[in-house]
Amino acid sequence: MICVIIIPMIAGREKNIQENNPQIAESDICCPVDREKNNQENNPQIAEYDKPGHVITEIRKIDPRDPDFDHIRAAADVLKAGGLVAFPTETVYGLGADALRSEAARKIYAAKGRPSDNPLIIHIADFDALYRIAREIPPQTRLLADAFWPGPLTMIFRKSEIVPYETTGGLDTVAVRMPDHPAALALIRESGGYIAAPSANTSGRPSPTLAEHVAEDLAGKIPLILDGGTVGIGIESTIIDLSCITQTADGAWVADETPLVLRPGYITREMLAEVIGAVGDDPGLAGDTDRELTGAVGNSPGLTGDTDKGTAGAADNGPAGAADPELREIVGFDPAGAAAYPKAPGMKYRHYAPKAEMLIVSGAGEAVIRRINTMAAENRRRGIKTGVICTEETERRYQAEFVRSIGSRADEDSIARHLFAVLREMDALGADRIYSESFSSLRIGTAVMNRLMKAAGHHVLHV
Ligand code: TXA
Ligand code: MG
Repeated sequence: MICVIIIPMIAGREKNIQENNPQIAESDICCPVDREKNNQENNPQIAEYDKPGHVITEIRKIDPRDPDFDHIRAAADVLKAGGLVAFPTETVYGLGADALRSEAARKIYAAKGRPSDNPLIIHIADFDALYRIAREIPPQTRLLADAFWPGPLTMIFRKSEIVPYETTGGLDTVAVRMPDHPAALALIRESGGYIAAPSANTSGRPSPTLAEHVAEDLAGKIPLILDGGTVGIGIESTIIDLSCITQTADGAWVADETPLVLRPGYITREMLAEVIGAVGDDPGLAGDTDRELTGAVGNSPGLTGDTDKGTAGAADNGPAGAADPELREIVGFDPAGAAAYPKAPGMKYRHYAPKAEMLIVSGAGEAVIRRINTMAAENRRRGIKTGVICTEETERRYQAEFVRSIGSRADEDSIARHLFAVLREMDALGADRIYSESFSSLRIGTAVMNRLMKAAGHHVLHV
């Protein structure tokens, strides 16, 4: 099925875009002049953003397991013409461009509003494709690829000459991943083998796990979205930096330092270490887990006047409520004051932030529920709408305007899968304050908490 939209849509969860938004089916008649002007009907790839806001965005539904080749070919044609296409992967939706053409990569930054120093991941469909874009590929690469490719793992290498600096954000290294998704793999092969693709969201917003999320952010800016339904994993790939392993003149491989995880994901550090031996965590990410934050009380926004997300006002009307005597418990983490900066440029930016103020409430289960309910009641008294992010196990225990389970603690994957959709949903519902349970105890807790901490501007209340 094909539909054409030019207007932003309302969020909804795991539903068919057309079902939720009947206006889309009609929207192809609401802007006939633009359509004619851009001559897009015949040539969707020529539009792009020379006239941002006036691009007709076409959505093509595909079967994620067995994508219709006509749609793949249409998308590949757009990419080969230097245009952008959003497409599903097993982690999140990506916004693709030809990775080897600087002007194509540049369009990605424009469409997302992405800082130009934030490099893109190149997606490949065959291991051998790596040799054209990377230099000094250490033996650990093959071991990790055998274990985790295709899959949610990105590896960083030194880049070859053919990779433009626009793709790598000016770095001499390149990030590479082979996605585990039939439509993504088919599109990569059909379009020439190298697709640069960040998550297909506006910079700073939660990553898209549905085509609908992509349309919310990028409709009117890109010509084509391949809609493969809900993604499987729901958080972005784990990134490991292998560029620290280099080859000496006599051919030996030496690691200048332990390979580091630059972004936690579904594949944990422990899983990587089982395959290649010691793997570390980028020290620049230390503030992104609840555990480490416990020791960072000195950065409390209520005490230091940290102005991120308006928390300087926390004592008056911050997430914890008015003049809360336990405000000191709110722990803020200021990445600028941390011992090290994250090594992945993208990890230093504020991310995933919903419009509402958000606070993670961490502690023993009953205490968390009690505290959130108290704050929600106080908010209600003051006319503030509260959203609660919880789990199936606790959903019925909360009294607040919007209570949303993101999954079951017994099924960790479900929590990762719904995280971004729930953050978007809170915005759509109009929550003023969001309180979230903490998920540090999960196997994928590091990855989930990394995203949640960024969404909450590193604000945690320990109870
Ligand atoms: O699962 C994923 O990885 C998704 C799907 C679409 O594949 N893509 C994704 O891309 O999450 P993006 O652009 O949202 O995140 C890429 C991250 C950024 O934090 C960026 O700074 C980092 O990877 N990165 C890319 N190249 C790098 C490099 N050469 N060195 C260090 N970090 C790099
Ligand atoms: Mg992203």
